[in-house]
Amino acid sequence: MNTKVKKFRIIKYKENIKPALKIKNISKSFNGVPVLQNLNLNILPGSINGLLGENGSGKTTLFNVILGVLKPDSGEIYAKGSNLISTMPIHERCKKFSISYVPQKTSLMLGLSCEDNIKGIAQLIMNDERKIDETCDRLLTEFSLLDVARVKAHSLSGGQKKKLSIARALISNPNIILLDEIFAALSPKIIDTIKNLIVNLQTSRKSLSILISDHIYQHILDLSDIVHVLSDGEIIRSQKPADIVKDATARKVYFGE
Ligand SMILES: Nc1ncnc2c1ncn2[C@@H]1O[C@H](COP(=O)(O)OP(=O)(O)OP(=O)(O)O)[C@@H](O)[C@H]1O
Ligand SMILES: [Mg+2]
Repeated sequence: MNTKVKKFRIIKYKENIKPALKIKNISKSFNGVPVLQNLNLNILPGSINGLLGENGSGKTTLFNVILGVLKPDSGEIYAKGSNLISTMPIHERCKKFSISYVPQKTSLMLGLSCEDNIKGIAQLIMNDERKIDETCDRLLTEFSLLDVARVKAHSLSGGQKKKLSIARALISNPNIILLDEIFAALSPKIIDTIKNLIVNLQTSRKSLSILISDHIYQHILDLSDIVHVLSDGEIIRSQKPADIVKDATARKVYFGE
């Protein structure tokens, strides 16, 4: 089922380059209950990073801290090497270092058409109408959504909604894209289509880094250059997929062995 994904796999990153994102000693509690505890994570430019963690382990919390939607209790986040972004307001963080997010729950404007979902965001970033139309056509083509360009988002299938969500997240030409439980409630064929679209992002967008979570760990293993395991508020392992499945600690905390 997943051979198609591996066939197109191209690993571009080099181990010795500066991280696109460096998360240093981040802690976050809710009502005194710690969720993230001195968490450290490096994301290399051009890499696909899988994030594995049990329900409630803090994956979405981590995404929100990276975006700036949640303020960490302590710790720092650096972008493109040594630029401290964790003290910046969200708009400044987005302007200087574009981070896009595809949330667990849809953020589409369901009453608007597919193309208006894209143009609505593009208009916030671009002034030139021609550029907005070009961006919209390019993304609808890339994500095979041209046939449904005029269809309202609420009438799209689950797979089309997910593809539109990813397309929207790419409008700003981000440095990093966060994909939270991207394959939830999708059937195997559309999962393979979306996996191939994600792998193709690595070849079509220079140095785009991807952080992706999902509960079906095989999808994460198929896609990732590096897999990070989140447990007890920390990243306890960051390894290549082939190594993570052999790691006794990762197996114990995540696979329950
Ligand atoms: N705004 C909030 N207020 C209080 N507690 C919160 C808040 N957001 C998250 N939590 C708690 O933080 C913990 C981690 O939640 P989070 O949603 O980050 O986990 P997750 O790994 O994304 O889980 P899942 O895989 O089920 O999506 C949970 O115990 C959750 O109840
Ligand atoms: Mg979550």
